[in-house]
Amino acid sequence: MPRVALITGVTGQDGAYLAEFLLKKDYVVHGVKRRASLFNTDRIDHLYQDPHLEQRNFILHYGDLTDATNLIRIVQEVQPDEIYNLAAQSHVMVSFETPEYTANSDALGTLRLLEAIRILGLEKKTRFYQASTSELFGKVQETPQKETTPFYPRSPYGVAKLYAYWITVNYREAYGFFACNGILFNHESPIRGETFVTRKITRAMARIALGLQDCLFLGNLDARRDWGHARDFVEAQWLMLQQDEPEDFVIATGKQYSVRQMVETAAAELGITLHWQGEGADEVGIVDSIGQSHLSNVTGHLIKTNDQGPMTNASGPQPGQMIVRVDRRYYRPAEVDTLLGDPTKARQQLGWEPKVTFRELVGEMVRADLEAARRDELVKMHGYQAFDYHE
Ligand code: NAP
Ligand code: GDD
Repeated sequence: MPRVALITGVTGQDGAYLAEFLLKKDYVVHGVKRRASLFNTDRIDHLYQDPHLEQRNFILHYGDLTDATNLIRIVQEVQPDEIYNLAAQSHVMVSFETPEYTANSDALGTLRLLEAIRILGLEKKTRFYQASTSELFGKVQETPQKETTPFYPRSPYGVAKLYAYWITVNYREAYGFFACNGILFNHESPIRGETFVTRKITRAMARIALGLQDCLFLGNLDARRDWGHARDFVEAQWLMLQQDEPEDFVIATGKQYSVRQMVETAAAELGITLHWQGEGADEVGIVDSIGQSHLSNVTGHLIKTNDQGPMTNASGPQPGQMIVRVDRRYYRPAEVDTLLGDPTKARQQLGWEPKVTFRELVGEMVRADLEAARRDELVKMHGYQAFDYHE
């Protein structure tokens, strides 16, 4: 019998990578998606199976973490061997604007799922993964952060996730659940949400390189994060549920970069060298020089991209042009200045190692965003409408 997994948040970045990963391992994968007024399954459309097929191994259910009866019904129908609770209002800045909703979905949502397992008497059958976060460390109490580092969350999101962390530990200790917290540091990919800083940067840099956008507005350029690739990180989620005993693990790369370095790396991928002027809210990033893009060596398609000219197009950025500026709107009421994880326990007990380097991650993201920007440019050139999404 194939193993059965239930993923909440299957339409998100991690949900999509995890669904793909588990399907390759011959799981039957069920996913919970929210009702939305527009299609919201872009990230998993390549996995879609016609509901008329008799033997399906990828099945979606409408559901919401704020609706307990719905969660109980789905868990009862699916009878999962493993639940991956990835669903969350996952944007830290947005959590300052929607603190109650964030607590409802991220904190109480986790409780509702654990209760569903308990009410249905599935504690011995169903293993539970909770998407915990390095945001728990917030105002960091030691560096690097590991499983024993005290928590100090700095946002409604972090506080909601703190509840979810402890309720997961509590159900493990009180009822013998096989429940694990993955304390994951930031992980990104070409399908990262467009308003998280890495994707915001790679998307903007690609558009600036093609002359589709003039300037990128950011908040705190000094913030430092430990950024890995989402594909690597979902493997760790699965590994945690395959252990003999349930435990909590930090998942991180152990390397740290600033937002400013992220901008420089993305720009460099496109052959753009920057220098910085000014300080704080007055700091700006100015084009120094435009050289041969490193991307031109990567794939045939991108060589073509360069040969066709748009990257050296006169409408692209020029030396001396200001392409990065600070906008205080993106400053957070309480900031997490620095996060750096120590993944030693994961390496020793799970045999997990990150495979993708920061530079490779940024390269992959820039390539994908360059392709998307070129597609938009082509569509517009031929008189059709391309969607201009804004934050
Ligand atoms: P994401 O791209 O924002 O995806 C979140 C998913 O949750 C989406 O499918 C979203 O649905 C769904 N969702 C949100 N609210 C929901 C609700 N009330 N009921 C049901 N579904 C809901 O996030 P991600 O980057 O994949 O992260 C996955 C999980 O890991 C999240 O819990 C996040 O907090 C946590 N985490 C992420 C990172 C990271 O760096 N990526 C690090 C540590 C922890 P829609 O598609 O309809 O919006
Ligand atoms: N989003 C955003 N937009 N962040 C900016 C900007 C901007 O314009 N400018 C600077 N930053 C800074 C933020 O202040 C923060 O310090 C850092 O860039 C990273 O911001 P995000 O990419 O939004 O991620 P995050 O670290 O706040 O949260 C992500 O990682 C957590 C794990 O540490 C999310 O994925 C969370 O769900 C996750 O738990």
